[in-house]
Amino acid sequence: MSRVVQYSRFGGPEVLEVVDIATPTAPPDGVVVEVRAAGVNPIDSKLRSGLRASPPLNGPRRVGSDGAGVVSEVGARVDGWSVGDEVIVRGADGAYATHVVASPQQLVAKPQDLSWEQAAAIGVPAGTAYQALKSLRVGRGDTLLIHGGSGGVGQAAVQFARAWGATVIATASAANHARLTELGAIPIAYGPGLVDRIRAVAPQGVDVVLDAAGTAEAVETSLALVRDRDRIGTIVLGARAAEFGIRAWAGGSPVPLTPQEQSLRREAIGAVAELVAKGEFEIEISRRLPLESAAEAQRESETGHVRGKIVLVP
Ligand SMILES: NC(=O)c1ccc[n+]([C@@H]2O[C@H](COP(=O)([O-])OP(=O)(O)OC[C@H]3O[C@@H](n4cnc5c(N)ncnc54)[C@H](OP(=O)(O)O)[C@@H]3O)[C@@H](O)[C@H]2O)c1
Repeated sequence: MSRVVQYSRFGGPEVLEVVDIATPTAPPDGVVVEVRAAGVNPIDSKLRSGLRASPPLNGPRRVGSDGAGVVSEVGARVDGWSVGDEVIVRGADGAYATHVVASPQQLVAKPQDLSWEQAAAIGVPAGTAYQALKSLRVGRGDTLLIHGGSGGVGQAAVQFARAWGATVIATASAANHARLTELGAIPIAYGPGLVDRIRAVAPQGVDVVLDAAGTAEAVETSLALVRDRDRIGTIVLGARAAEFGIRAWAGGSPVPLTPQEQSLRREAIGAVAELVAKGEFEIEISRRLPLESAAEAQRESETGHVRGKIVLVP
């Protein structure tokens, strides 16, 4: 048997149920992965609650797009993957499970230096951070402001940008400032007076912004500090980005990711692995929970104040 987390109506975390189903078999064009860990992302809750639009529910829907595990069965038409391969699954259809069916396009070989939990924690957050910073052309000489620097995306963005030679200012609550300093960013408290505090630590000015918070304050601050709106990007306020004249990637944007942006998100995993091997990238796991605690995991994620990543371990 296989255990999966699913929901049959939109609502709070209580709509999640953990059920036993027959273990899936590999379709001709896919593989079955035995999941060792699944990453909990804010989008999982947004889809479950109906906050982010998705097709009508006409049966149970599985949860979770980030997973890591071992290939346990390979479809007849699949080349290049074998039973026993250790993989990361991106864009999975139900990673909160003991088994998930995936297409070869969703698989990336798991870098050996990463634990299962770390491997499950990087698909969405590191992929998004890497692609957004590449799309914003962040590099040496830039002063980058990150709104929401201590979350999953924020920590990855701080570390990529530092590795690429940028000066990084990142917002977080006071409890997370020491962590941001450890990662090489200048921490700043969000809240009233934010523009002045940033100007005080960046007399040279801010060149580029990544918004991973999605607050009115984040938008107003970004517009006040950076003239070139092509160098302000949001991953949360996609639905309103055009109104502000700033850039957006997913996060409710009506414009889908381009094939190049999608391939940057995939490429991020190799980039993380290289930096981890050099001791220049850390993946902070804030909490490990069993599948049966999926509702608790999402409840915590929904507080909006998780530092690092929550992972489910089947
Ligand atoms: N567009 C995309 O493709 C995409 C991909 C991934 C994520 N996202 C979105 O990006 C957002 C961040 O994702 P995540 O995975 O990093 O979330 P996360 O791990 O839950 O982190 C959220 C972070 O937001 C910070 N925060 C809370 N209130 C804030 C405020 N008023 N100002 C600044 N920071 C604040 C928190 O820091 P403190 O605890 O210090 O307050 C926390 O570290 C979510 O809305 C998510 O849905 C979009």
